[in-house]
Amino acid sequence: MANIIKIIEGFSFIPRSELNLLEALESQKVNVDYQCREGFCGSCQVQLLEGEVEYTSEPIAFIPEGRILPCCCHAKSDLTIEIPGGCHLKKTEQ
Ligand code: FES
Repeated sequence: MANIIKIIEGFSFIPRSELNLLEALESQKVNVDYQCREGFCGSCQVQLLEGEVEYTSEPIAFIPEGRILPCCCHAKSDLTIEIPGGCHLKKTEQ
């Protein structure tokens, strides 16, 4: 069954199952910092408030308690996350 991703102070969406969490957020034009996209740098960290994720590859970066690395995990259940600095959407070209 499809999981729902809820961003606190943002919105909710249902990600395509083949996308990792970072790709799913990007598909919704949500701004998330990232560098390596492979679990090395830790720059993509978001707070996991509710739910469970599954890592597709074991992250190398240190992950503080309660945080996850969206670049290398998938939603295993409905998730509620908080993006550092708030939920901001990328501006689209007109
Ligand atoms: S972008 Fe480097 S750990 Fe996610």
